[in-house]
Amino acid sequence: MAYTKGEAIKDDVIRESEIKVFATEDRGGRKWINKPNKKLQKPLISFASDSNAAVHPNILSAINSVNQGHVISYGDDIFTQSAVKKFEEHFGKDIEVYFVFNGTAANVLGLSAMVEPFNSVICSEVAHIDKDECCAPERFIGCKLVTIPTKDGKMRIEQIKEHIHSLGNQHRAQPKVISITQATELGTVYKPEEIKVIADFAHKNQLFLHMDGARLSNAAASLNVKLRQITADVGVDVLSFGGTKNGMMFGEAVIFFKRKLPENFKYIRKQGMQLASKMRFISAQFEALLSNNLWLKNAKHANEMARLLARKIEEVPDTKITQEVEANAVFAIVPPKYVSLLREKYFFYIWNREKSEVRWMASFDTTKEDVKKFVNVIEKTARSI
Ligand SMILES: Cc1ncc(COP(=O)(O)O)c(C=O)c1O
Repeated sequence: MAYTKGEAIKDDVIRESEIKVFATEDRGGRKWINKPNKKLQKPLISFASDSNAAVHPNILSAINSVNQGHVISYGDDIFTQSAVKKFEEHFGKDIEVYFVFNGTAANVLGLSAMVEPFNSVICSEVAHIDKDECCAPERFIGCKLVTIPTKDGKMRIEQIKEHIHSLGNQHRAQPKVISITQATELGTVYKPEEIKVIADFAHKNQLFLHMDGARLSNAAASLNVKLRQITADVGVDVLSFGGTKNGMMFGEAVIFFKRKLPENFKYIRKQGMQLASKMRFISAQFEALLSNNLWLKNAKHANEMARLLARKIEEVPDTKITQEVEANAVFAIVPPKYVSLLREKYFFYIWNREKSEVRWMASFDTTKEDVKKFVNVIEKTARSI
């Protein structure tokens, strides 16, 4: 698979850094304050990643609301206690929650609570832990990642089984964790029953199930289920719960559903340099995200915008949607000529250069108008060729 996300980053970051301006129009009641800059060459909405999105105004005001006085640092404060209660409302009482700065850290530290250096972690070939974490898992957890081929981002039990034969063989790395991503890196979603089958299989073989839930909210919104129905209730042992891609400024949570596991986690987090001294500013963001269904509203909207984009793209000649649009990502094969013309105006990643396959992502702040404008550019391009 010709995975070219890295290349795209290299080409595009320099040009993006020239953009010194934010939107000037009113977006959903928010006026942006920066003055227009004539140097602006690209529109604000990039379709590159939900991490490119802004911060939801409720999150910003939550940060602001705790920005007064002094509280004890490192999480021993009322705002963190209150945020943890919110997690308990959504995931059940029997959990341990630890906040960290980013998703890579949530994954790496969560995994490191479960493994010894002679273990292996089974994941898909497109897993973020394998493809996009600069071998941080290998470095910090010190064990092997075993990847499984996938067409749609999901792993099937038959494929996982092949790697279990090495259990007990002293010459082989010992599988200890199965790691799945929900929603997957290809924008698809595991159904609760699919997760349960993998969890039961893992537990039967004394393995743990880890879930990279950077986009768990999008998956839950897509399935119309509660967050716990695709995690605690179906046997997930450890979850990286994403905030950043769903409207937060920064912050992810590592959630343990088995109380025995996090015995040493407070040391692992500190040694892993992810213990925030001003923890209240992460906690306040989670409190806001998990209140008044903000997590759901944001995720639902992003999913809807991705589906709208996909429906419109399907009507454009010579393009083909390549994955089910179940969350907020759209994968499509688009003629290379369209790609280069589009990339003069919009920033997004080429997923597979050989196939001319691109990835577009919608966010909580993508509007119907943004989708319309983007599709208009493609249509215009298609007509002019
Ligand atoms: C599936 C998945 N997991 C985790 C992450 C978290 O990455 P970061 O370390 O950039 O917060 C991402 C971000 O792209 C992701 O797509």
